Amino acid sequence: MERTLIILKPDAVQRHLVGKIISRFEEKGFQVTGLKMTRITEAMARKHYAVHEGKDFFKPLIRYISSGPLIVMVLKGKDAIEVARKMMGSTFGSKAESGTIRGDYAVSTRFNLVHGSDSPETAEKEISIFFKKEELFDYNLNDLQWIYDMSMGDIV
Ligand code: RTP
Ligand code: MG
Repeated sequence: MERTLIILKPDAVQRHLVGKIISRFEEKGFQVTGLKMTRITEAMARKHYAVHEGKDFFKPLIRYISSGPLIVMVLKGKDAIEVARKMMGSTFGSKAESGTIRGDYAVSTRFNLVHGSDSPETAEKEISIFFKKEELFDYNLNDLQWIYDMSMGDIV
């Protein structure tokens, strides 16, 4: 089982899409192990998007992500990072496939509603930035045996 950090960006909150987006991840079968509303300060945003420093969209990206409250959550599931990013769709709303979150609800190349970690290393780093240990919950999902085939001992 893998963990990923999902951010519902300020436009998701402003556009009343928080419930819909969380539902998609829940319905897919992910386990929500942490969830809260918070803000990202400019300093945090610079750190979070450090790989994009120097690019022409860096400054507006920092302004966007720190412009209002957002939702952060930790999802747990098999191949959670890859599956969540597939559900999000490609970066630009205008290019994202229909059926994905960005493809269905976003049209901007910047205001694209959602962030998902892109590797196990970044996921663990991002989770530790946003969540204290006591804000994450380890609990049994009762229907897990109907989300995955675990009858042979492994998770399929
Ligand atoms: P994210 O990091 O937010 O999950 O998105 P991503 O991996 O799909 O995209 P990335 O290339 O990491 O870009 C980070 C965010 O910057 C904004 N962006 N604006 N040309 C532009 O104006 C432009 N390109 C990227 C988007 O908000 C993107 O999610
Ligand atoms: Mg990225």
